[in-house]
Amino acid sequence: MQKFDSFANRINATKREKNSNIVLAVDPTCEVENLFDYVCNIISQLHDYVCAIKLNFHVILPLSKIELKKITQIAHDFNLQIIADLKLNDIFDTNQVTIGYLSSFGFDSVIVNPFIGKINLKSTVDYAHSLNFGIISLVYMSHADAVEGYGASLAIPNGIDKSENSKPAYRIFYDNSKSVGVDGVVIGGNRLDILKELRSKDNEGLPIYTPGIITQGGDIKRALEAGSTFLIIGRAIINSDSPLNKIKNIYDLIKDLEY
Ligand code: XMP
Repeated sequence: MQKFDSFANRINATKREKNSNIVLAVDPTCEVENLFDYVCNIISQLHDYVCAIKLNFHVILPLSKIELKKITQIAHDFNLQIIADLKLNDIFDTNQVTIGYLSSFGFDSVIVNPFIGKINLKSTVDYAHSLNFGIISLVYMSHADAVEGYGASLAIPNGIDKSENSKPAYRIFYDNSKSVGVDGVVIGGNRLDILKELRSKDNEGLPIYTPGIITQGGDIKRALEAGSTFLIIGRAIINSDSPLNKIKNIYDLIKDLEY
């Protein structure tokens, strides 16, 4: 499918049309009998309540090119964006090939690790945008020991920013991500202090995608108050007894909060 507008505009349009900022993570961690059927069924059941689907690496890996194309087509038929969560972390030349494949399979966007550095990130974003493909940058993960990487202080020898010797990694990642024009950043929805800090520093900031909601302890209301734009939610919905009832409850809760 040829894309005529940017990913950022497309997901915002879908968010408005569906009146939902939920990104459904179809990332089963338990065994499913037929992964392709499982993904198609859950998208078909829940599409009314979400603006995008996120598929993790462990879901994409076992599926064929034909199956992935069918899944992205189903998502688009339901007017959903579809994000590949590969946490891409490589040099530009290989990122370029990966993004070319993902785009040709119908994906709209990929999550990238800004550890690759600002110049590599910029080349990756520029190439993706030439295909109207989105880049979401992983600024701070939600799991507890993410502090060891994203929370560490980094000193950049002969660095780009010579004014300060060291800064927390997530601050460097956020600033780099913003300056190269990514379409959004991922920050754990349970990291309220980090969300508030980056939001207050940068009011006109980037869209923030927050995983870590419910199952990993993040609270929807607090995450939204702290600055979340899109809520990435997986297991709390897909592993519940009734994914449809669960997502309806979450959708109603968010609507009442008027975000
Ligand atoms: P839950 O806990 O709702 O998580 O099942 C949904 C999916 O989100 C992914 N995940 C993350 N992805 N940064 C990311 O880029 C994170 O901090 C993070 N935490 C969770 C994970 O793949 C899961 O399937």
